[in-house]
Amino acid sequence: MPMDGTDPTLDHWQTALARHWPVAGPLQRLHGEYDLNLADETYVYKVMRPGLGEADIAPQVAAHEHARAAGVLVPSPIRSASGALTQVIEDETGEPRTVWVLNRLPGVPLASLRPWTPRLAGSIGEQIARLHGALASFDHPAVPDTHEWDIRALPARVGSARGLAAHPLAQTLQWILSEYTVPACAALDALPQQPIHNDLNEHNLLVAPAHCGDATLSGVIDFGDMLRAPAVLDLAIAAAYLVIGSRRPWPMLRALIAGYCAHRPLREGEGALLWPLLLSRLAQSAINAWLASEGGRDDPYLQISQRTVTDFLRKHAEDDPAFIRSLVGRASGTGWPASSKLTDWIASGECPIAPVFDAPLISAPVLDLSVTGEHACDDPVRPDLTQIADAVAQLAGDGAVLGRYAEPRLIYGALFFLSGSHGASDRRTVHLGLDVFLPAGTPVHSPLPATVHSAEICDAEYDYGGLVTLRHSDPDGRAFYTLYGHLSHASVSALKEGQAVTAGQAFALLGEPKENGGWPPHVHLQLGLTDLPGSRWPGVFDPDDAADWQGVFPDPSALLGLPPGRAACDPVDNSDLLDKRHAHSPPSLRTSYQEPLAIVRGWRSLLFDPEGRTYLDAYNNVPHVGHSHPRVRAAIDRQLRLVNTNTRYLQPIHGDYTAALAQRLPPSLDVVFLLSSGSEANELALRLARTATGRKDTLVMKAGYHGHTVAAIDISDYKFSGPGGEGAADWVHVVPNPDAFRAGLDPEERSSGEHFATEVTSLIDKLAASGHAPACFIAETFPSVGGQLIPPPGYLEAVYRSVRSAGGLCIADEVQTGLGRLGRYFWGFQHQQVVPDIVVLGKPLGNGYPLAAVVTRREIAERFDTGMEFFATFGGSGVACAAGLAVLEIIDDEALPSRAETVGDRLLAGLRELAERYPLLADVRGLGLFIGVEIADAERRPLPEEAAWIVERLRQERVLIGRDGPDHNVLKIRPPLSFSDADADYLLSRLDDVLDSSALRALHTRPR
Ligand SMILES: Cc1ncc(COP(=O)(O)O)c(C=O)c1O
Repeated sequence: MPMDGTDPTLDHWQTALARHWPVAGPLQRLHGEYDLNLADETYVYKVMRPGLGEADIAPQVAAHEHARAAGVLVPSPIRSASGALTQVIEDETGEPRTVWVLNRLPGVPLASLRPWTPRLAGSIGEQIARLHGALASFDHPAVPDTHEWDIRALPARVGSARGLAAHPLAQTLQWILSEYTVPACAALDALPQQPIHNDLNEHNLLVAPAHCGDATLSGVIDFGDMLRAPAVLDLAIAAAYLVIGSRRPWPMLRALIAGYCAHRPLREGEGALLWPLLLSRLAQSAINAWLASEGGRDDPYLQISQRTVTDFLRKHAEDDPAFIRSLVGRASGTGWPASSKLTDWIASGECPIAPVFDAPLISAPVLDLSVTGEHACDDPVRPDLTQIADAVAQLAGDGAVLGRYAEPRLIYGALFFLSGSHGASDRRTVHLGLDVFLPAGTPVHSPLPATVHSAEICDAEYDYGGLVTLRHSDPDGRAFYTLYGHLSHASVSALKEGQAVTAGQAFALLGEPKENGGWPPHVHLQLGLTDLPGSRWPGVFDPDDAADWQGVFPDPSALLGLPPGRAACDPVDNSDLLDKRHAHSPPSLRTSYQEPLAIVRGWRSLLFDPEGRTYLDAYNNVPHVGHSHPRVRAAIDRQLRLVNTNTRYLQPIHGDYTAALAQRLPPSLDVVFLLSSGSEANELALRLARTATGRKDTLVMKAGYHGHTVAAIDISDYKFSGPGGEGAADWVHVVPNPDAFRAGLDPEERSSGEHFATEVTSLIDKLAASGHAPACFIAETFPSVGGQLIPPPGYLEAVYRSVRSAGGLCIADEVQTGLGRLGRYFWGFQHQQVVPDIVVLGKPLGNGYPLAAVVTRREIAERFDTGMEFFATFGGSGVACAAGLAVLEIIDDEALPSRAETVGDRLLAGLRELAERYPLLADVRGLGLFIGVEIADAERRPLPEEAAWIVERLRQERVLIGRDGPDHNVLKIRPPLSFSDADADYLLSRLDDVLDSSALRALHTRPR
C-alpha cells in the first residue's frame, strides 16, 4: 500500500465489483491466508488467488448452499447481476481472478471476543453437529480427499521436512506425531468419511457478543480447507482452538462435546480419537507455522495463535489421555465402558482379592477430613498435619483407621496443589484414593497377582515418599493398576520394575512421617486405568474435574473388602441445600448471585465451598480481623466454658470490654450500651435522642440504611423508598446524599461539603417554619448502601452545627466504617472532624459473634434513666464481651488499621489505573478498605446491569465483591482487614480480566 494511505487494490475492486454486485459502501480488507477477502456491511467478496477457477470454488459454493438450506448458520452465496455464482474479473494488474460473494453474517470472530464461556462452547458444539448433519448428505466431486492442512498428511510432511529439529518443542511435536497422530490417522481410515470444514479455528467461528451476557455462535465461515474425512476431526479441531484460548480448558471442552452430542451422538470409536486429534491439530499448527517461517513465508495469520499453541502443548501435551477419555465419555453421555467394567468385576465377588492388610478393615473407624469434617485441620491454608495424627491416634485403638475416597479436603497445603500462586487460585482438593492408617512398618500385600509397574521416591513436603504402582490384568487381559503411597523408602528401593508379585504377597512397608511427606503413617491406595508411573498419578483433584477423574481412578473400596459407601463420599449437591432452604425459609430471604454460592468455611480473607473451592472475600466486613480468627475462637470458647450470662450479674469481662471500647472513642463518649445487632442499636439511639430532647422529628439521609426492625426501617430511606417500602413517616425528613460525583462537585473541596450541608440547614429552617425541630440527625458516617461515599470535607461539621443549633442530637452510625477499616481514621467521624452525641456500632465488633453498641455522653444516658430498666438478654453477655475484647486486641496486635491503610492505598491506586483503561469505572473512591467504584457511562449515567455483570463474572473468577448505591451501580469492596497486598493484586488482576471483555467493550471505547 502506498505511504499516502491510499490502497489501489481496494480502489480497483470497489469499482470492479460494483459492476456485478450491489456494493453497499466502502470496502475493507478481511483476514485471509491466500485469497483477498473484501467486505462491505452486507457482503463478503472473495477474490480467489490467481490460478483458481470456478471449478476450484464450486464445492465450497455448493456446500454453503446445501448447509444454508439445512438451516446451518453459514453465509449464503449471492449471485451476480447476471445470475452467476462466480465471476471472473481482472485485478489491478490485469490478471483474471475468480470472485464469488457471500452475505455477511452478524457477529465477530471468536478470536476477538472474551470471555469464552462454556455456554458459548455449547453453542459452537451444537452448530458443528448441525453442520455435520447437513454435510453428511452433501457431496461434490471436487471436494478433495486430502491437502496441505489434512492431518493425515502430517506425518509424511514432517518426515520429508528439514529444519523441524530446531523447533523449541521439537521433541514434544515428534512425540505427539508418533504417540498420537500416526495411530489416530490409522483409526480415522476406519470411520465413515464425509465432507468436513477442517478449519474450525477462532477466526472462522463468528460469535454474537451479548451485552452483559454469554456470547453465542452466530456463524461458521471459510470452507476453503474443506475435505473428505471423518466428522470427529472437525470437532477435535474446534476443541483444540477452544482449549488453548481458555484459562479453564476442561469446562470448555465438556460443554463443546455436550453441545455437539445433544444433536449428533458420537460414533463408536470417535470419542477415543478426540484427544489424539486435538493434540495432533495443535502440533500441525505449530509445525506448519514453523515450516512457513523457515521457508520465509512468515504469515502473521499463521503465527497469530502460535504462543497459545506452544504454551498449551508445553503444559498439557503429556496430560493423561485417560482423563480426556473419561471426560469425553461423561460429556457425550456414553460413559467409559472400560472403567465401569473394571469396577463391576472387582466388586462382583468373582475377582479373587487377597487382603491388603493383616488388620481387619470392615469395622475400622473412618476419619472425616472433608471441608467441614470433624478431623479437618484448623488452618485450611497451611494445615498442621499433627492434628490429623492426633485424630488418628484417638480413633485407632490398636487397629486401622480409614480415610475416604472422593472426599473434598482442605488438608493439602503445598503450592503444587494450587494452579497459581495466590491462595484463591484453583486448588486440588478431592481425594481419589482410599487411606488406611496403620503403624509405620506395617506390611502391605498385593490384592491380586501383579508386576511392579513403578517404584519411586517422591520426597517433597506433603508428597508420597515411597511410592509403588502394581500392574494387574482383568479377565479380558486388559491392564489396570493399583498405587500405594507413603511407603518406607527401604521397602520401595528393594523393588524392581517388572518384578512379579503374587496375590497376597507383602511387597512393601508403611513409611514413617519423616520419609512419607510428613503425613501420619498410612497407605494411600488408588485404583487406576492409567499406565503412567505412580509419580504422574495425581492423588487429589480439582473439584471441577473430579467427576471425570473418577472414571480414571474409580473407588478402590472393593479391593479392601469394603462395601460401597463405607469409606467413600457422595458428591455435594448444591440443589439439596437450596431445596432445604426453600422448604422452611421465607421467600424474602435472598441469596446473592445467579447461581447461589454455598460457603462452609472461612480463613482470613478466604472462603471455601463444600468441595474446597476457594473464594477471595473482598466483600464481607463482619469478619473484621479475618474469617475464623483463632484468637476470637479461643476467647469465645474459653468464656463459653466458664459461663455465658447477662448483665444483671457483675461480670468482670463486661467492665473490661466497655472500658476498652470507650478508651478508643473521644473522652466525652464514655457510656456504653451493649446489644446484639446494628438494628437494635439504632432503635436504642433513637430512643436516647427522643428522651433527651423530648422530640421525635428525625433527619435521615437519602439512600441511608440503619437496619431491619420497625423503627430502623422508618429511618432507612433505602428501605422505605425501596421495593415494598411505604415511604417516609411524617416525623422522618430526608436530606440529600453527599454524593459529590453525581452532583459534579469536587469531592476534596470544603465548598462541596458546605453545599450539601446547606440543604440540611434549609430543611431544618423549613421544619422550624412549621413549628417543628429535630430530635436528631442520623446518618451512616460514610454512606455505604448509598454508594460507598466519602463525604466532602466540612460536610458533617456544618450539618452538626445546624442540627445542634436547632437543639437536635447528632447520631453517627459507624456500623460500616468504625474500628479501623478506614486506615488513617479509627472512626469515620474523625475524618469529618466532628464528635457525635451518639455513636452506633455493630457488624465488626464481635467478628461475627453478635455484638453491637451504642456509645454516648453520660448526661444523655442519665436523661434516658426514666425509671424504665434497660435490659437486653444477649447484649453484653460474657461471650459477646470476650469476642469484642479479642477483636480490639487483635486490631492492635496485628496493626490492622495501618494494614488497611497500605493495602487500601494499593487497591485504590490499582483501581484508578484500571479506570484509566476502562472508562466505565467512572469514579473510584474510598479510604482504607472502604472502597466504591461507580460504574457509569461518559455522561455519568449509572450502568447497573454492567455493574451486576462485573460482580457475577468476578464470582466466576472466585472473587467476591458487592454492588450497591441508589442506582445499584456501585461496586462495593470492603474486605476483612486481614486482606493482604497479594489479595489486592489478585483482585485487580481478576477484575482486569473481567473488564477486558467484549460484553463491555462498546462501553470502554465510548469517548469520555
Ligand atoms: C450502616 C448500618 N447500620 C445498621 C445496620 C443493621 O445492622 P444489623 O443487620 O446488625 O441489624 C447495617 C446492616 O447492614 C448497616 O449497614
